[in-house]
Amino acid sequence: MCHAASVTYKYLKSKGIMEYSFSHYLLSKQSVDDRALNQNVLHVLKTNLPAAPIRIIEVGAGIGTMLTRLVRWDVLTKADYVLVDEMAQNIQTAREWIPLWAVESGLGVEKIEHDQLRVFDQTRDIRIHFECADVFDFIQKNKTPADLLIAHAFLDLLPMPESMPSLLALTRHLAWLTVNFDGVTSLEPTVNAALDDQIERLYHATMDTRPTGGDSRAGRHLFSHLQKAGADVLAAGASDWVVHPVNKKYPADEEYFLNFILHFFEESLTGHAGLDGSAFVNWLEKRRAQIERGELVYIAHQMDFLAKV
Ligand SMILES: C[S@@+](CC[C@H](N)C(=O)[O-])C[C@H]1O[C@@H](n2cnc3c(N)ncnc32)[C@H](O)[C@@H]1O
Repeated sequence: MCHAASVTYKYLKSKGIMEYSFSHYLLSKQSVDDRALNQNVLHVLKTNLPAAPIRIIEVGAGIGTMLTRLVRWDVLTKADYVLVDEMAQNIQTAREWIPLWAVESGLGVEKIEHDQLRVFDQTRDIRIHFECADVFDFIQKNKTPADLLIAHAFLDLLPMPESMPSLLALTRHLAWLTVNFDGVTSLEPTVNAALDDQIERLYHATMDTRPTGGDSRAGRHLFSHLQKAGADVLAAGASDWVVHPVNKKYPADEEYFLNFILHFFEESLTGHAGLDGSAFVNWLEKRRAQIERGELVYIAHQMDFLAKV
């Protein structure tokens, strides 16, 4: 978490106020994703990457945490990295946050134009292009396909299978498609077994009925979507989020992450005709108290893929 966000969060928390910022959620998600990403799929990605410099397009890239992860993990040395997201706030945060991260990591930063940035040292040189655009508009205007397409925690939000062929047109070689939700959410300990089950079921159903698309079993369905679009799956595996306390404390900023997950539940299900409103409010309170006491364990089943077009 960046320092300013951390100070604001601690202050609001001390006042009993929760501030919900999507950028802060994406920052808090980094350590959870670091643990979750499937290491075998990542290994196969590394062995198949063409020689540097490579061109990467990441769609639904948020504030750019995958780019910084790939630098941290020494996967990227020399690259042109196009970061596409439709939310202006995310792209703005990426423009401000990536240079701060780079300086903290001992990398040089050069602002080339409003929409381009270079982060570098003696062995690494990454040129970043910021694109605030809907992914399908970007697909229409993109002229140069990438060596690697990345979509992280994104494909389960898109209409499938119809989006797959146009997405794959963004790459001439590899697609690394990670953290695709796959139908299991688990919150422990139980509050009320019947209500817990009902909330999980209704929450998943909201993912399947979003007007903009989405699939609560996106992970398992990607095998056939990729195959139908003419891509070969080189590797696949689970990338479950497993968030749990250690000595009643959550690591890094994962307490914020968990509160945001409950916020997603609240936003999706408040006013749902199939759910008793006051029972749901009570359930949320109990779940929040479990986080406060360092008890809640959250698991979400997800899947990673490496495909070759
Ligand atoms: C769950 S977030 C994941 C962000 C990032 N990949 C990460 O994991 O930190 C999904 C992202 O997709 C973006 N998004 C959703 N629909 C989009 C669209 N049609 N075109 C481009 N970006 C989109 C959202 O703005 C959001 O940043």
